[in-house]
Amino acid sequence: MMEVRFSAFGPAKSGVLVVGATDGGKLTAQAKTADKAAKGEISEAAKRGRFTGAKGQIVEIAGAKGGPYALVGLGKTTEFDALAAEAVGGALVAKYLLTGETRLTVALDISEEHAVHVAMAAALRAYRFDKYRTKLKPAQKPSLKTLDVQVADPAAARKLWKDASALIEGVFFTRDLVTEPANILYPQTFADRCQELSDHGVEVEVLGEPEMKKLGMGSLLGVGQGSAKESKLVVMRWNGGKDGDAPIALVGKGVTFDTGGISLKPGDGMWDMKWDMGGAGAVAGAMKALALRKAKANVVGVLGLVENMPDADAQRPGDIVTSMSGQTIEVWNTDAEGRLVLADALWYTQDRFKPRYMVNLATLTGAIMISLGLDHAGLFSNDDDLAAALDKAGKAVAEPLWRMPLVESLDRALDSTCADMKNITGNRYGGSIVGAMFLQRFVNGTKWAHLDIAGVAWSAKARAVHPEGASGFGVRLLDSFVRDVAE
Ligand code: BES
Ligand code: MN
Ligand code: ZN
Repeated sequence: MMEVRFSAFGPAKSGVLVVGATDGGKLTAQAKTADKAAKGEISEAAKRGRFTGAKGQIVEIAGAKGGPYALVGLGKTTEFDALAAEAVGGALVAKYLLTGETRLTVALDISEEHAVHVAMAAALRAYRFDKYRTKLKPAQKPSLKTLDVQVADPAAARKLWKDASALIEGVFFTRDLVTEPANILYPQTFADRCQELSDHGVEVEVLGEPEMKKLGMGSLLGVGQGSAKESKLVVMRWNGGKDGDAPIALVGKGVTFDTGGISLKPGDGMWDMKWDMGGAGAVAGAMKALALRKAKANVVGVLGLVENMPDADAQRPGDIVTSMSGQTIEVWNTDAEGRLVLADALWYTQDRFKPRYMVNLATLTGAIMISLGLDHAGLFSNDDDLAAALDKAGKAVAEPLWRMPLVESLDRALDSTCADMKNITGNRYGGSIVGAMFLQRFVNGTKWAHLDIAGVAWSAKARAVHPEGASGFGVRLLDSFVRDVAE
């Protein structure tokens, strides 16, 4: 991770001194001081560079006295908030990560809290997954190593930074898991990585196939049946709250690779399905963040880890499996496997932990991208308060959710003539809602929400707080949600 330091306002040690201007190009106090030292060259460069002070706009002033400098736009003062600060931090790293510059000193005349958001976004945006890139040229490697953030009260900022760095560690943990290819990350190795969270005080249990068979998890086990890799269920517990307080339960779909099974997917872009464990990845990352910041809450994380492969022994379309709940499922399509995994993971979780709230995250349906695009995750819930709390958390961290309805007629469309239900309806209507209706049959009345993150777990484009690739969507949202409802 990029090194971040906080110090009082003063001259930069080395590297670029970044100062700010608000809407209309109005220099902030630090920018005025720097402009004086630079004999007016900063305001001059702003004029020549069509600088408007728009959020994240950057003008470089290399040759000026006391420089180099950069002037960054903060946008409208009245609209400057944590997310605007993150946009600024992300923009700075997008610009300077590879330029050869090793250090930025950021002096923006903003609050300690906002300065921490600048730094957090910078660190998040600088994420790399280079472990398999053996031929990177020096110019392709990040040069930017240190961020010096100047604030009025460095001690206060350092205190806030503790929680922020816990969050960054959690997000990076998720991104690493999501980015790993399926030959490296499969149920066992995923579980091994979760086991490392016990160093931070998380209790970790791993159930293998024999244990799950004993519990009657025929639905989850059916999905992994064609894989050479053993399916696993990971149970993580963070007990930072009061003894006996009902926990918040987080449940993740962890299909380490989804070929579709016998209902095989088309080959084009199938590599995408290495990140079909994004829900489980987000839950694991959230558990790490909560543990690192010693959250005062009881939280359990349950991951259903399987690989969905076609094989002589794979599950066939038409097979009927019995879930842990006792309900039977006719598997019309082996590619609608996430719901089969979650059926048992959800039932197990509510049965064992009696959670106050149960929230599952899953890259469940391609259809959610058709309905909502690639900015919002779908939110389905049987409880308005829970839905409102999740919506609020998502807005606060720019991981937005959009609430979708639970629809009775689509639930009835899952009824089967041979079993208690099918895993698809057999038509294309309301595909994401159908997935949610299926899951709801396994929550046993628990206050529950399902986040369909198929459109947001992986991003072909870089955004403010992440490069292209794994976004880590869900980690910050869950952290914020737990803070709001349980701490
Ligand atoms: N993992 C996929 C959903 C998905 C698609 C996630 C694209 C991310 C990107 C899921 O298991 C799946 O295959 N869903 C099917 C459901 C259908 C068979 C009812 C789908 O979306 O086509
Ligand atoms: Mn599938
Ligand atoms: Zn899938």
